[in-house]
Amino acid sequence: MSQIKIFDTTLRDGEQSPGVNLNRLEKLEIAKQLERFGVDRMEAGFPASSKGDFNAVKTIADTIKGTSVTGLARAVKKDIDIAWEALKGADEPRLHIFLATSPIHMTYKLKQTPEEVIDTAVSMVAYAKEKFAQVQFSPEDATRSDWNFLAQIIERVIDAGASVINMPDTVGYTTPAEYGELFRFIRETVPNIDRVDLSCHCHDDLGMAVANSIAAVENGATQVEGTINGIGERAGNAALEEVGVALKIRADYYPYQTNLKLNEIKRTSDLVAKLSGMYVQANKAVIGRNAFSHEAGIHQDGVLKNKATYEIITPEMVGVNSNTLFLGKHSGRHAFKDKITELGIDLPDEKLKEAFNTFKKLTDHKKEVTDDDIFTMLMEIQTDI
Ligand code: KIV
Ligand code: ZN
Repeated sequence: MSQIKIFDTTLRDGEQSPGVNLNRLEKLEIAKQLERFGVDRMEAGFPASSKGDFNAVKTIADTIKGTSVTGLARAVKKDIDIAWEALKGADEPRLHIFLATSPIHMTYKLKQTPEEVIDTAVSMVAYAKEKFAQVQFSPEDATRSDWNFLAQIIERVIDAGASVINMPDTVGYTTPAEYGELFRFIRETVPNIDRVDLSCHCHDDLGMAVANSIAAVENGATQVEGTINGIGERAGNAALEEVGVALKIRADYYPYQTNLKLNEIKRTSDLVAKLSGMYVQANKAVIGRNAFSHEAGIHQDGVLKNKATYEIITPEMVGVNSNTLFLGKHSGRHAFKDKITELGIDLPDEKLKEAFNTFKKLTDHKKEVTDDDIFTMLMEIQTDI
């Protein structure tokens, strides 16, 4: 089995979903849960984009030690310097630099010739490498770029010190067969490609982000990028919970494994949905409310006889627990703590005590305290951490 690294960008590309705005503490809660979920790398944000994002990335880099933390930067010194200030407290400071390589982006957005783009990429990767232990380079809009030009720039940035090459399908334009072919071409053409991680990053504009990611893996990608619940720019990114479960369920066919703890999927998905305000559609693969419900009589009958007739994923595998806890005035401290853990929140002891007292007061007025009540309460209590 080959090991596939999972790079989560919920806190960067996911936060680029229209209408989503996570504060520092919300990002930190999600980062802690991503660590529990077992992602290998997490992109905590884009430090140069705002003071708020800088602070969030810094807090995450200083706190999260079980997962490698990275941040995004344009190929300019100012972004790289700001990212260093945010990320230098990480155990293994890692930077993600992007620069567009497609004709349309180079001509209209960058106004640079292909030769100038190569020079910028090489000099900025080398500059970042003076500070960062690991540098990832993304030729933005790779799938609409000339393949020979891509091979050329990739070879040059590897020579300049990049240790991860990510080939984003920035506008969700490619198809599984084509994206797979591109990965095979780069593997076969670029000298020293075996020294680096080769990564895929897919957007879902044509609904193929997960299929494209799996095709990339079949053709030599060693890292998959994506987000929880597939949130992200426009139609979103590849949903990591779908990639993880597909590779596990079809281990008979795919000789790949990840470090993801699949039974943390539900908790992670719920936390991201609540804090981003992007609710999961009922028929969403793997984690939607209907993913384990059976409506048709024939299906219900089959499932009662043997669940495997119509169910390829068990609820337990993805952490869906039918015995979720009901919280009311008779609930004690233990049940309250279990509920908080179920929601993916991590509270220090004194905050837990404070939260429990607030919860008890709430039960004087409410028969059932819902997950939403608890989230609101915890966010208020946490603001002064
Ligand atoms: O989709 C994209 O091209 C990106 C880059 C910044 C890697 O998100
Ligand atoms: Zn993207």
